[in-house]
Amino acid sequence: MVFESKHPLVKHKLTLMRDVDTKPKKFRELIREVTMLLCYEATSDLLTREKTVTTPMGTAVGRELSEQIGLIPILRAGLGMVHGIWEMMPGAEVWHIGLYRDEETLMPVSYYNKLPTSPTVQVCLVLDPMLATGGSAIATVDILKNWGAQRIKFVGLLAAPEGIRALHTAHPDVPIHIAQIDAHLNDIGFIVPGLGDAGDRQFGTG
Ligand code: PRP
Repeated sequence: MVFESKHPLVKHKLTLMRDVDTKPKKFRELIREVTMLLCYEATSDLLTREKTVTTPMGTAVGRELSEQIGLIPILRAGLGMVHGIWEMMPGAEVWHIGLYRDEETLMPVSYYNKLPTSPTVQVCLVLDPMLATGGSAIATVDILKNWGAQRIKFVGLLAAPEGIRALHTAHPDVPIHIAQIDAHLNDIGFIVPGLGDAGDRQFGTG
């Protein structure tokens, strides 16, 4: 399943992120804010259980989350997506996966992975602003499935149709939550019109 956000705030903020004149400080604020909105949409089916609390007026039967959430940012660019989600789910565990794309082959190269031997969370949100060829997302989901993760969702900002197809083909059970699906990939594997390199634009590099 592919969920492309229809939310006006997502579209508004994403357009600001695309703007070549948006500087890293503003870009970091925007990625945090857009991710909060996407997270709201991506977490709408989390399981809850009954919880009774005492209010100043009596007793209320409410609900609390019954699943432990793991955030898996793909380094580097996924890092900026963690903080928005943490503001809403401060108990979420964060497990970093380091991958970069080989510039020639566009294949993901793994350089960091410190997952514990068995899963500690029930729901994994893979965070990466860009779903280009899909190679990085597929490799990350492969790693998480080998780890034993049961429910995995991908949350990103921009996707190329090629990346959506590849991730969906490799892992049809992983829902894809995305702010916008763009036109295509160019010949060096960048999303067009896109927003450039999401890592460089956050960290002021490049
Ligand atoms: C970018 C981006 C994704 C990946 C997407 O990372 O942040 O992780 O490429 O491409 P794919 O779908 O074709 O795999 P990059 O390799 O530039 O590393 P960085 O985040 O450290 O800049």
